[in-house]
Amino acid sequence: VSATGRANADVLIDGETIRAVLAPGSTLLGTDVAASVDRVIDATGKYVIPGGIDAHTHMQLPFGGTEASDTFETGTRAAAYGGTTSIVDFAVQTYGQKIQDGLASWHEKAAGNCAIDYGFHQIVGDVNDDSLAAMRTLPDEGISSFKLFMAYPGVFYSDDAQILKAMQLSRDTGLLTMMHAENGPAIDVLAAQLVEARKTDPFYHGKARAWEMEEEATHRAIMLAKLTGAPLYVVHVSAKQAVEQVAWARDKGQNVFAETCPQYLYLSLEEQLGAVSEKWGAFEGAKWVCSTPLRSREEGHQQAMWQSLRTNDVQMVSTDHCPFCMKDQKELGLGDFRKIPNGIGSIEHRMDLMYQGVVTGEITLERWVELTSTTPARMFGMYGQKGVIQPGADADIVVYDPNGHTSIGMPVDEAGNPTGRTHHMNMDHSAWEGFEVDGHVDTVVARGKVIVDHDEYLGAKGDGRFIRRGLSQYLV
Ligand code: URP
Ligand code: ZN
Ligand code: ZN
Repeated sequence: VSATGRANADVLIDGETIRAVLAPGSTLLGTDVAASVDRVIDATGKYVIPGGIDAHTHMQLPFGGTEASDTFETGTRAAAYGGTTSIVDFAVQTYGQKIQDGLASWHEKAAGNCAIDYGFHQIVGDVNDDSLAAMRTLPDEGISSFKLFMAYPGVFYSDDAQILKAMQLSRDTGLLTMMHAENGPAIDVLAAQLVEARKTDPFYHGKARAWEMEEEATHRAIMLAKLTGAPLYVVHVSAKQAVEQVAWARDKGQNVFAETCPQYLYLSLEEQLGAVSEKWGAFEGAKWVCSTPLRSREEGHQQAMWQSLRTNDVQMVSTDHCPFCMKDQKELGLGDFRKIPNGIGSIEHRMDLMYQGVVTGEITLERWVELTSTTPARMFGMYGQKGVIQPGADADIVVYDPNGHTSIGMPVDEAGNPTGRTHHMNMDHSAWEGFEVDGHVDTVVARGKVIVDHDEYLGAKGDGRFIRRGLSQYLV
């Protein structure tokens, strides 16, 4: 199955790359191909798809007074179990830090530890003259995109003047501007007022981060991009009104792109409000504290997000994988939702969750491949090497069984100990507890090596290599 169609075919792998895609029973120079290879993986009755590419992850992100709980080792292994064979993680420049130093520290964290191939975007947390000069060298480092934040004042936040300068550089260099589009200063006032009024439960995180704050920031980012001529990619879009802004800009011919995440397709603010457990009470809702926040189902955001995937107003799906445990991490925000580290862990489940959209008729099989692999490869300058099964491409392949079944989560007993099946992410809970998917990742091949075979991990840390990305193939 590719982004454009499906066919009965054999895929011939030679070393780390794909040699040929052949009609079944083909001969090459007179020899029967199937009979002359070292190993045959029988995919009869199953889908053979290009390995998933998750273009938005945060391994070991320092955030909210703690650090995202998956290392490059645990997070990329969990990804592999779930049929994802490449990630693009966010290297971080913190305030006051040199970009070169932030980037070097990310290489240090990842090198030799990854189960699958990995690239980096650059978070620019401090736009100044020194940073702008350093950003010009990013393409030579194999990095073709950077992320700015209109949220999180005092942490990663950029004001409009900084955004304008960075976008001018984006126009000049072809680097893709990625934007966290929420009006952070206004949100922080609303959040403080809620806490003052003793509305401190996790659910109020979503109340403070109102959709108006996402719509406004998305529009502002679009207008700044229009003025400067910068290409713009809006990350983790969750509000239907933000999608309308993206669609409006695209209809006018602007180079504006967007991603959404599984949590904005399946989970809602109402469910977060209703989540009360014996152990945590209403603080159970902390498991779903992420930014942008979960949106109201009554207001129809989830339905609108699925629709946007069909109409291509939103072009791809990433996880924004940013896991935190409840113990010692999320619980930092007991009594004040502002102190809950923001993020949900989903890297292991993206392919399954999006396949469930095929089962329920929300998207087609081909669109599933496009949203999870082919478009991410094109968007971030990897297509040809990644995102497609064709001669010369890396042999990153998933055999997916539509007749299989996947139970997602990490069920625990009363004492909080896992009871049997569990995910492989380094988390003490799952934001996806109880989700059942009619499909299963059977075999995962990464650059020609079988790294997962029927839930058995056969890879090793260090299998994954750094991906030197080119400019976005939607822009060149
Ligand atoms: O809640 C989230 N999204 N945490 C990760 C940081 C970000 O803004 O992407
Ligand atoms: Zn963000
Ligand atoms: Zn993120």
